[in-house]
Amino acid sequence: MSVSLRRRRRPWLAIAAGVALAAIPVLVDTLALVQAAPPADGGQGGYGPQAVKDVRPIWSEAERRRILKHGPWPPVNIPDLGNRAAGRHAARRLGAELFFDPVLSANGRVSCASCHHPGRDWSDGQARPLARDGRPLDRNTPSLWNVGQHRWLGWDGGSDSLWAFVMRPLMDSREMGARPEDLKRLMTDDPRRRCLYRASIDEDPATSSPEAVARGVAKVLAAFVGTLISPRTSFDAYRDALARGGDAAGVDYPVAAQRGLRIFVGQGRCHLCHSGPMFSHGEFHDIGRPHRRADGRVDPGRHAGIARVRSDRNNRAGPHSDDRAGAARAAVGFLRSSHRNWGAFRVPGLRQVAGTAPYFHDGSAAGLADVIAHYDLPDAERLHTEGEALIAALNLTPGQRDDLEAFLRTLSAPTNAQASTIRLENQAIDAICPSAGPN
Ligand code: HEC
Ligand code: HEC
Repeated sequence: MSVSLRRRRRPWLAIAAGVALAAIPVLVDTLALVQAAPPADGGQGGYGPQAVKDVRPIWSEAERRRILKHGPWPPVNIPDLGNRAAGRHAARRLGAELFFDPVLSANGRVSCASCHHPGRDWSDGQARPLARDGRPLDRNTPSLWNVGQHRWLGWDGGSDSLWAFVMRPLMDSREMGARPEDLKRLMTDDPRRRCLYRASIDEDPATSSPEAVARGVAKVLAAFVGTLISPRTSFDAYRDALARGGDAAGVDYPVAAQRGLRIFVGQGRCHLCHSGPMFSHGEFHDIGRPHRRADGRVDPGRHAGIARVRSDRNNRAGPHSDDRAGAARAAVGFLRSSHRNWGAFRVPGLRQVAGTAPYFHDGSAAGLADVIAHYDLPDAERLHTEGEALIAALNLTPGQRDDLEAFLRTLSAPTNAQASTIRLENQAIDAICPSAGPN
């Protein structure tokens, strides 16, 4: 249980109590409206296939405020000061090429895209991906959408910058197992790659150490991955209409999703962790999944992530960050691991969540219905011992569970267009090196 949340809960309760009083006239209005509406759902309590069009929620001020916090979208760009390649066209281009190229891996067969497929919202559809030795890795492959927005990277937050994280799959022998000497040769031998690398990193790979080139390649990959921003969704249109001050009645947003949204920001307490435009506040919690995996091992989660980021030479306080003076440098120095970090994982963002099953850090929930079933009736044993105070049985009706799922599905939009945008953009900036030389 996080201390900061415990502190934060009291003002929240006070505000909620205040708003509840203020909202009484609104509630009366809502009731009048519900009673006046014809039973268009055939008497199924609003949960039939023909859900009552007129009975959309009328939001209280507190609800409206909570909903508005999940936007606007797309987000304001956060500059990655620790990565000099971030924001450079040449780096995005080279990074996109390398992302899909198995040539980086030791056996020439694994690329980043082997696990992060653009057609699967940059994840892989497996509970846990297979390592090069044919055994499953420890954790589920997350989507890469909006990954440039995270403060901590990885399920355990074991890295404090995108490029430092990318060193892991790139160099880890179980994933791509790249060798620094090979990376140096790859960046040097091909004139076009060498040109794009220089335009990205300001150093010639031919005269850099192999280790420096490995870090350069990670920065170039991060410069590409950090630009993956998920598309706007029907939720965003609805949210923006509410932000403009209307009742959003004109927006084509399913009534079931609206009811699910009310559960998300109310009875379900989901918004307390899945908050902000990404539907994650970026911190770490233990939501009471079983500690032991199928193979009997325990994943220490954030507890080990803190140790990892503190000892990482590539962290923001280390000699290889390009942010020599930034405030973020200091943050890692203040990190301390404690018992409450044990088994905690970063709250995942929920944008594009419909396309990234299976769920949770170990891929143990097959679909969204399984995730909702977990929150509806969490493991009582775990809650009794070291459970998270925010997680408690919700006792939703089957109709409410469907509504919550309907809402979660509106956080996704089709992304085929997005994948082809990436290709088109690549063509557009193809000219940088062959013609113009390093910029
Ligand atoms: C064998 C499958 C596999 C390959 C290959 C792979 N990844 Fe991953 N990726 C994963 C898994 C599993 C995780 C979660 C690891 C963790 O948090 O412990 C992950 C996590 C990430 C994250 C962190 C996401 C987040 O939300 O914090 C980034 C960024 C990332 N990968 C980028 C890459 C890049 C770039 C490459 C190529 C250099 C790559 N991955 C190659 C499986 C893979
Ligand atoms: C106490 C904070 C907290 C609350 C409250 C919370 N979540 Fe989560 N949620 C998390 C964490 C942490 C994870 C990752 C847990 C893991 O992998 O072990 C997660 C995972 C998820 C996932 C899986 C995402 C993925 O990519 O694997 C979904 C979907 C989700 N939550 C939806 C909800 C909904 C719906 C609610 C409300 C009923 C809710 N959450 C309430 C913290 C929270």
